[in-house]
Amino acid sequence: MAEPKTNELMERIVSLCKRRGFIFQSSEIYGGINGFWDYGPLGAELKRNVRDLWWRSMTQQREDVAGLEATIIMHPKIWQASGHASTFSDPMVDCLLSKKRFRTDQIEPQSGTAYFYEGAQDGSAGKESREPYSVLIDTGAHPEHARKVARQFYQQRGLANPTLLGERSEPVENTTRYNPENGSLLTDPRAFNLMFKTYVGPVESVENIAYLRPETAQAIFAQFKTVLDVSRQKVPFGICQIGKAFRNEINPRNYTFRSREFEQMELEFFIKPDEAVEAAAGSVAGVSDTGHSGEPQPNWGWQAWHKYWVEERIKFYEGIGLPRESLVEYWQKPEELAHYAKATVDILYKFPFSKRDEEGNLLGEELEGIAARGDFDLSQHQKHSGKSMEYFDEETKTAWAKLDGAKKQALQARFQEAKRGDLLKRGYPAEEAESKAKEAAEKLARGLYVPHVIEPSAGVDRLILALVCNAYCEDQAPDDKGKLESRVVMKFHPRIAPIKVAVFPLLKNRPELVKKAQEVRDLLRPHMTVFYDEAGAIGRRYRRQDEAGTPFGVTIDFDTLGETPQLRDTVTLRDRDTMKQERVALSELVPLLVARIR
Ligand code: GAP
Repeated sequence: MAEPKTNELMERIVSLCKRRGFIFQSSEIYGGINGFWDYGPLGAELKRNVRDLWWRSMTQQREDVAGLEATIIMHPKIWQASGHASTFSDPMVDCLLSKKRFRTDQIEPQSGTAYFYEGAQDGSAGKESREPYSVLIDTGAHPEHARKVARQFYQQRGLANPTLLGERSEPVENTTRYNPENGSLLTDPRAFNLMFKTYVGPVESVENIAYLRPETAQAIFAQFKTVLDVSRQKVPFGICQIGKAFRNEINPRNYTFRSREFEQMELEFFIKPDEAVEAAAGSVAGVSDTGHSGEPQPNWGWQAWHKYWVEERIKFYEGIGLPRESLVEYWQKPEELAHYAKATVDILYKFPFSKRDEEGNLLGEELEGIAARGDFDLSQHQKHSGKSMEYFDEETKTAWAKLDGAKKQALQARFQEAKRGDLLKRGYPAEEAESKAKEAAEKLARGLYVPHVIEPSAGVDRLILALVCNAYCEDQAPDDKGKLESRVVMKFHPRIAPIKVAVFPLLKNRPELVKKAQEVRDLLRPHMTVFYDEAGAIGRRYRRQDEAGTPFGVTIDFDTLGETPQLRDTVTLRDRDTMKQERVALSELVPLLVARIR
């Protein structure tokens, strides 16, 4: 079957998501609200499965990660400490004509001829505007195109019949100063803070301002000490959380990809500074370029831990059905890194709407970022809250005491120099950076340090979108009379499929078949999500489940009831992807399906 074009493909996916109840526009009966999405019955199940699998793999199946569920609204000082209050902003521009808002970095550079006006007059009304304005049109296009736009602009300024003043034109190249949709000049870029503001309590005053969290991570840092105390964990260990985050995105786009309300799954994994690792293990492990680094080792420094989490996360995505070739491991370039980050890897998924390289290959869009953030976050909270975020590491203290003098000196000097560099980057004056770094190095020798962190941070909604795009498939399947017809099938991995199995009586008007099918439904229900369907021809029922992404269909027919004696108490099990059918004994159905959906 011919491949649909990108936009067409996205339109078909969006339409299926709506038709089958995966994703709806929020508040649709009122025309929707931009950047907000609801998940329908199938979407809610899919999302729940993804969250559960993440949670299970991140904490329940590990010794070294504890869970947290914190509030969405937190003390506003958290956002000062994290830097979100001052720096969590995007540069934004408005169209001077249509008032449409753009993120400056999302405007494609354009070339053409700019027409400049000094103002306009309306002689009959005796009115004048001296506000300069300009319009970009294609080079060679008639100037009247620019004049028409300029007249509309001055009409909005109260001149009913504007005569344009001081027209001049100039070729321009690669500019982002004009609205790509109508050529109108844009405002100068302004920083726009993406946090949603609210008030706590009945009085809307400055001191009651609070924010909806723009990421779940900060609660983990703020509760680092409390979780450490109650969970009896030792560094290295992690704290993970799943929850809603809110960002007042200037341009929500690409369906749910960039939303204003979304969900994150974040892990903050706290590790020892490399010098503490070296003191105890003798050296810090090097990092190989290929493959998974295996089980964590005591000599792992931040690079090995970072690499480990990148590999773990890719393994997770593969385990829920995203093929390795649909993912890209993008290592941020030094100039792209946040000032506190030592390294960041973005895991990209090749969405149908992703940009393409010159050869037409999809480049991918971010699903998750895995950042090595040093001790930035905990140090910031220590500074702003006045509460210690230091960890006492008995092992480091003991190991340090056993080092010879030269080694002690070398490690301490290296730690101090790295700390001093960090503090300078954070804006500390040179003298203060020097003395704080010295103090931190002395504490390290006593086993006290602020842990460093590796942060794998993923978006649930982006992952759902990737899984939906990946599952969407159009192929041919025979109808009830054996004639081939096209079908849409959502090839979800059984682990994440919203419904695991559908149960069908062959005919709805035969009570004995219906009764048996309901018994089979009840047999399966304690173990998995089951959908019972008796309406319509069996081929139609299969087709409906194919669209829902149900991996298995169980049909109860007359043989199940014993029409062919050796087939009594057997059912037909249909595989969604191959459409192959096998005869399975009812006594084997539960273990067989449980094994296939794990
Ligand atoms: N704590 C780090 C952090 O929040 P981020 O790269 O800003 O890092 C992490 O966000 C993940 O959250 C992204 O990789 C993405 O999956 C998801 N995410 C961020 N902004 C989003 C938005 N507006 N809509 C949907 N998902 C978003």
